[in-house]
Amino acid sequence: MLKIGVIGCGAIGKEHIRRLMHLIPNAEVVACTDYFIDAAKETAAKYGIPNVYQTGEELIAASEVEAIVITSSDASHAAYVLEGVKAGKQVFCEKPLAQTAADCEAIMEEEVKQGRKLVQVGFMRRYDPGYVEIKKVIDSGELGEPLMIHACHRNVSQGEGFQTEMGITNVAIHELDICRWLLGDEYKNAQVLKVKQSARSTKGYDNPQIVLLETENGSRIDVELQVSDAYGYDIQCQVVCEKGTLNLPDPSSIIKRSNATCSTTLMTDWADRFIEAYDIELADWVTKVEQGEPAGPSSWDGYAACVAADSLNRSRGTNEFLKVEMIEKPELYK
Ligand code: NAI
Repeated sequence: MLKIGVIGCGAIGKEHIRRLMHLIPNAEVVACTDYFIDAAKETAAKYGIPNVYQTGEELIAASEVEAIVITSSDASHAAYVLEGVKAGKQVFCEKPLAQTAADCEAIMEEEVKQGRKLVQVGFMRRYDPGYVEIKKVIDSGELGEPLMIHACHRNVSQGEGFQTEMGITNVAIHELDICRWLLGDEYKNAQVLKVKQSARSTKGYDNPQIVLLETENGSRIDVELQVSDAYGYDIQCQVVCEKGTLNLPDPSSIIKRSNATCSTTLMTDWADRFIEAYDIELADWVTKVEQGEPAGPSSWDGYAACVAADSLNRSRGTNEFLKVEMIEKPELYK
């Protein structure tokens, strides 16, 4: 039984606690904390979590906590991950790993010092059955080499304080991870473009934006990004290969025929759209950690996405493709 402490009892924190307590038999949440301590106390009462700590640092140091799940706000991730790794504990960190490449490098340095993988990043799409199937076909070589990816990330709303740059670091970060994973390739150049703005979206940040990427092997990727005010939560991905194309399937929905119309329903929430992926992801993390070390997206993957995000945000308004420059991959992640 893996004894876990959770930092951040907000939307996804509560979802992950429910999974760890009710769905995953070899996991138990033994402690939680939140910046708003009442959120932690309420969550602890609801799920029967025995220990509530005032701070993330206290939770990380607690002797009953063997592994840590970080589901607090983006800006707090890097410091907690570093602290967890220094304590020699396994850490599952929701995306993004950090806000800057330098913070990711500090985490990797510490992990390398510890001599084993201690971090998994919450890029759950790698566990979504649709993406997994696409990856299998690409890797089989059946359709030849992948040449391009056309992707869309359309969302309904964002919380208070959302900014243009977060469209990349918080939202498109999923595409930045999944595309390099599907292609087994790294990014070479990146550019973000502001397009004609939606009159429905007037909250002070760019929406939509288009992300353009070129990989080391010459594949091209375009991602249409509508962070809010779209018609639903709709994630699309088409991989164009030499001998055919691969499309991400839509989640299943009944087909309704009524009023001379045939229709299906689209989702509006990430928690529903990727529910299966989150379930598989956390169950896999717990099991692999119990066996020795995590097998999912590593600190290196968190770093690669962060470096690409950084280039994209720097490219805004320059009309230039910017280089995506990474450090040499440490042996631990090869
Ligand atoms: P949220 O705002 O609902 O919850 C965040 C919680 O963290 C809040 O209760 C807040 O009080 C707490 N918090 C903030 N700073 C803290 C700190 N320094 N120490 C302890 N607690 C702190 O946000 P949500 O949607 O639950 O997102 C949390 C994280 O999970 C974000 O980093 C987000 O990017 C990630 N996320 C990932 C998703 C995925 O698809 N993998 C989906 C949704 C969120």
